[in-house]
Amino acid sequence: MSKDIISILPDAIANQIAAGEVIQRPGSAVKELLENAVDAGATEVKLILKDAGRTLIQIIDNGKGMSETDARMCWERHATSKIRNSDDLFRIKSFGFRGEALASIASVAQVEMKTRRSEDELGILIQIDGSELKKQETCQTHVGTSIAVKNLFYNVPARRNFLKSNAVETRHIYDEFHRVALARPEIAFSVYHNDQEVFNLKRADNHQRISDLLNISSEKLIYDEEHTSIAGISVFLGLPEISKKTRGDQYFFVNNRFIKDPYLGHAVNSAYEGFLAPDTFPSYVIFIEIDPAKIDINVHPTKTEIKFEDERPLYQLIKAISRKALASKIYIPETGQDDLGFAGILQNSYNANSFPTEPKVKTNPSYNPFANQGSNQVSRNRNVGKWEMLFDIPEKKLDPLPNLFGNEDKPAQSGHKIIEAQKLNWSIDALMQWDKFYIVVSTPKNLIIIAQQRAHERVLFEKYQKNLNEKPEASQQLLFPRMLEFNPADTAILEEILPDFKLLGFDISPFGRNTFIVNGLPAQSVKGEVKEIIEGILEQYKRNLLNEGQSSKDLLCKSMARQNSIKGGVDLSKEEMNQLVQDLIQCEEPFFTPDRKPVFLQFGAADLNKEFE
Ligand SMILES: Nc1ncnc2c1ncn2[C@@H]1O[C@H](COP(=O)(O)OP(=O)(O)OP(=O)(O)O)[C@@H](O)[C@H]1O
Ligand SMILES: [Mg+2]
Repeated sequence: MSKDIISILPDAIANQIAAGEVIQRPGSAVKELLENAVDAGATEVKLILKDAGRTLIQIIDNGKGMSETDARMCWERHATSKIRNSDDLFRIKSFGFRGEALASIASVAQVEMKTRRSEDELGILIQIDGSELKKQETCQTHVGTSIAVKNLFYNVPARRNFLKSNAVETRHIYDEFHRVALARPEIAFSVYHNDQEVFNLKRADNHQRISDLLNISSEKLIYDEEHTSIAGISVFLGLPEISKKTRGDQYFFVNNRFIKDPYLGHAVNSAYEGFLAPDTFPSYVIFIEIDPAKIDINVHPTKTEIKFEDERPLYQLIKAISRKALASKIYIPETGQDDLGFAGILQNSYNANSFPTEPKVKTNPSYNPFANQGSNQVSRNRNVGKWEMLFDIPEKKLDPLPNLFGNEDKPAQSGHKIIEAQKLNWSIDALMQWDKFYIVVSTPKNLIIIAQQRAHERVLFEKYQKNLNEKPEASQQLLFPRMLEFNPADTAILEEILPDFKLLGFDISPFGRNTFIVNGLPAQSVKGEVKEIIEGILEQYKRNLLNEGQSSKDLLCKSMARQNSIKGGVDLSKEEMNQLVQDLIQCEEPFFTPDRKPVFLQFGAADLNKEFE
């Protein structure tokens, strides 16, 4: 008997395994199909979805279509028209080049394609189920290609089960859609989900496309560009006032391909330094045009990572251009009378003269930052040297803001143990607020330091859990109902959490076409404008949405608690402190925030004595 144990996997299985890398979820199939349509030279692309792409993903393009042979060939692995040899890898201008996407998709779904070239009278229809060809025949169809992917992962139940809720999967799809649509403003895109139109983007230029897609009004978007021998850079920066609580709208494109690059992201973020409220993130879109020979896109199966020959000059270039652009148009938000807001706090705590309003930007067009690059290499983490001078913006004015806002992450003192879980049993002798962040409590046996925001988050979290599980919160009717409009991704999320939202006291119902009507708010513990309250909770929710292993109910409670908690930096009266401490004592799990961060530190006589030894 032969002892050989190795055998070659059948194609269908090999494809399925390979598909695991390329097609992880409906969003990845959408990405691949959109990119193929763009590579085929389409000027109009339509995306049709059913059930967050689980049931159907269909892309219809008016690109160049395929011949009969190509229509069959394109489903084979390593079948591509985009490169011929390894040298081509360094000249890539198309999105695709691996010849893997369609083979991967066909191995895990039921697909139907119709395609026709302009020179052919009839088109070709192809049907494939799990890599197996079911039908190939001529058909009547328009010029271009339509690919329908049905029942994704129907033959890989483990993967199908692994998919997240519709809201999460829709979010991934729209993320991918944004990345392609932003890169190709000259193409018209439309998206339909469950028969509803969610995007309809006309052909446009970059500025208009960004404004349309990211919902940023044109005048809140600053534009600048520089062309150097290293690269051409165009920056579109959202004004600081439209910065968000989530890192959502930050995009880098290299030769029109979306990439993730935290290092370059740092360059833009540091250009915003001093202009943003803490815990907020700017929106921006950066386009880099660079010689394809100077990059390697073949480093990751999803092609979102790129290796640059040298990233440091790019970092400097991007930071300097961004800073120049921002400094030329910086804006201080207006505030209401009783709300000091960002600008108010700044003016109170800063010498007004030192805030960088409208600096005079002097540029030196003849300056070449790369002239002595070899002799003056800057380290990756150091701030820019010469590029700062180029735009003559004094660095010291851009110091980060002092921490005037709620910062629940103030480092807990190390070396003191956090007490183990048990019900609290404090008999309070005295209590005071310290540094507007902490409540210091003295009991006969202990000195306790409570982080006020964290304590309130815990209290609210448990209250909201009770609302969901036992006792719904009463809703206070608004005098004038409010209509709110959301983007399609947020609409999908809101629709999913709506029943729980109602239990928490929000009287809110869908009103069609991404709008909702709000008739009432929770009777307790929410303050502020209806729109801000709901958007704030959604932002918090989205921030955590992609984290694994949390029920949507807990996530909602956590998001509400974070949004509505008393922040650090806020003065509390004796009564308020007392109430908060009493509420905390009643909690089931008073020791930690919903994020498992400690709520308080406790020192007994022994602990203190030890410190004094
Ligand atoms: N919408 C389309 N219109 C015309 N031709 C297409 C279309 N989609 C795919 N093709 C053809 O099928 C080939 C295979 O597509 P596939 O997406 O599998 O690979 P690729 O795009 O070459 O590389 P990658 O795997 O990196 O996406 C393409 O090279 C192209 O020639
Ligand atoms: Mg492709």
